[in-house]
Amino acid sequence: MNLMERYESLKYKVVNRREEFLALMNFVEKETAYLTAPASTKYHLCREGGLLEHSVNVAETLLKLKATLAPEISDESCVIVALLHDLGKAGVPNKPQYIKVEPSDKQKQLGMTPFPPYKFNSDLVYLSVPVRSLYLIGGRIHLTEEEVQAIIYHDGQYVEDNRSVAMHEEKLTLLLQHADIWSSRVIEK
Ligand SMILES: [Fe+2]
Repeated sequence: MNLMERYESLKYKVVNRREEFLALMNFVEKETAYLTAPASTKYHLCREGGLLEHSVNVAETLLKLKATLAPEISDESCVIVALLHDLGKAGVPNKPQYIKVEPSDKQKQLGMTPFPPYKFNSDLVYLSVPVRSLYLIGGRIHLTEEEVQAIIYHDGQYVEDNRSVAMHEEKLTLLLQHADIWSSRVIEK
């Protein structure tokens, strides 16, 4: 399956909140850079479509982990938090978070590509990625408290802001943290 087929088949796993989820994803796909943004400026998947590829990798990894470790968690919850955890990286409508760095004249002459290939858009109001993810989700879909916790604290102890969740993580949060790091460090290496 190609990336878009993998993405579409994940979306089918959202059943109970299907209508609101599809409306949210339609907004995200049409109004933000979700389908074209890279996953980072210079680390994993720093290329067009990298964010989508990362989100799909995280969703597929999370589904495998939960099938083994916590089958009581729904596929629906896994798909929602995985596809949306890094949504904030898309930026907001008309203001992507990542902007392509144009090659200098010299780089053009030599046929070189700039590194890093992307830079942060300084026009955006600062919000951490998960906070912007929730901002974009807005009231478009009802999230459970567990889903909100998983999205907000998906970076785990790597981020100083997340200390307060230590020892309070729900299963979905722990699994998303691991699926995220496994995807970026192993699958996308
Ligand atoms: Fe991620």
